[in-house]
Amino acid sequence: MTKKADIGVTGLAVMGRNLARNLARHGHAVALHNRSETRTRELVEQFGDEGEFLPTYSAREFVDALERPRKLVIMVKAGEPTDAVIEEFAPLLEPGDVIVDAGNAHFADTRRREAALRERGLHFVGTGVSGGEEGALHGPSIMPGGSAESYESLGPLLESISAKVDGDPCCTHVGPDGAGHFVKMVHNGIEYSDMQLIAESFDLLRGALGYEPAQIADVFRTWNSGRLESYLIEITAEVLGHTDAATGKPFVDVVADQAEQKGTGRWTVQIGLDLGQPITGIAEATFARSLSGHADLRASARGLAGPTRAPLSGSDADRFADDVEQALYASKVVAYAQGFNQILAGGAEYGWDIDLGAVASIWRGGCIIRARFLNDIRAAYEAEPGLQTLLTSGGFRKAVEDAQDAWRSVVSTAVRLGIPTPGFSTALAYYDALRAERLPAALVQGQRDYFGAHTYRRVDREGVFHTEWAAEGRPERSA
Ligand code: 6PG
Repeated sequence: MTKKADIGVTGLAVMGRNLARNLARHGHAVALHNRSETRTRELVEQFGDEGEFLPTYSAREFVDALERPRKLVIMVKAGEPTDAVIEEFAPLLEPGDVIVDAGNAHFADTRRREAALRERGLHFVGTGVSGGEEGALHGPSIMPGGSAESYESLGPLLESISAKVDGDPCCTHVGPDGAGHFVKMVHNGIEYSDMQLIAESFDLLRGALGYEPAQIADVFRTWNSGRLESYLIEITAEVLGHTDAATGKPFVDVVADQAEQKGTGRWTVQIGLDLGQPITGIAEATFARSLSGHADLRASARGLAGPTRAPLSGSDADRFADDVEQALYASKVVAYAQGFNQILAGGAEYGWDIDLGAVASIWRGGCIIRARFLNDIRAAYEAEPGLQTLLTSGGFRKAVEDAQDAWRSVVSTAVRLGIPTPGFSTALAYYDALRAERLPAALVQGQRDYFGAHTYRRVDREGVFHTEWAAEGRPERSA
């Protein structure tokens, strides 16, 4: 009998190809399939010596090449192409087989697909995979959802190809049905937030100190040896240090300043609104990208007056880079705190029991937001599983409290110099709103009651009340 494959990959564009190679390099026999045969042949020609590949050229052949329970990974464009591929393969599978969607699918689609395939006796595992092309090949962070049963056979394979930190695989069963794609979505939302905060730091160092990109690259390099150590800070230094070959100018100055997005950050914000989660950092980062893309609007407003952007001088200037480091750190803590709370809220809404410490743990390596301080986040949730917000957890609390003067000074400098810092500003506003004894939400309730009889609750008595605003003496009644 011919040897069967441990797992199959269909969709051999760069992500699928790299995942297949990663699996083969870890000793798993991998069946290959792609809509056009060329990609399958090319993979075997170029990388056939890396491990055991079983090229197949039809859906039937692909399915027959797989050891049972079959595990087939779909790596195609999210949306309709995924449904099309599922429909191509599902009729050929048998109960207990596992279809894995490793693309950036919307978790609601994953829930729908999982439920439909479960009816047919098949497991459907939507899994987040982070780390880009390089990660897929050398060790991504993997966030699988789906049934616990499917993880029994699939988990060891995924864990073997994931990144490792201190010997721990950056892969865990996140939770049932769409939990994996939900967590990946929030990962990307945090990614947006983190990138925006870093970009604002760059803008501040340039606008307030007059630093050139290469100098700022050095500042980021220094930061990367401290508590901010992370992949995103590391690549920021690389990007800022790069010179455009054609013009000799800093690379960052020849790139059009319009940030694009494929949609996962937007999804995070949309779901945040649905869940009533104040993920303000992710929202501001998403809006900052869309604002940057409004070229005509920006052109029409470019001449509007602003303050003179005179660089800082003297002791203010000497302190500023360090202050920005502190503001960045504090704002990052807020961004991650908001993201983890969104995961908690998603878990409560959809009945997933997500272990936030485990999520922090698998984000420590392989993924785009991998960072030293995820160790601290993991420790915070391990020490206090019911933690309401990272901001009140021991080490973070102290670090943010210690940073707050610098944070406030950076935001006020930005306002004074007219440098837009929506990420820093909203993070600080969130911090101040959370710690406030009273919020002006009380006045909003009063306004709502005045114009719409929307009622309010009181601080001193149980119940729901309405004031008869038009009546003499404005009597209050229980509503
Ligand atoms: C990852 C990345 C990956 C992709 C983003 C880019 O975790 O490996 O997040 O998924 O690069 O989706 O997203 P935008 O195009 O929306 O910036």
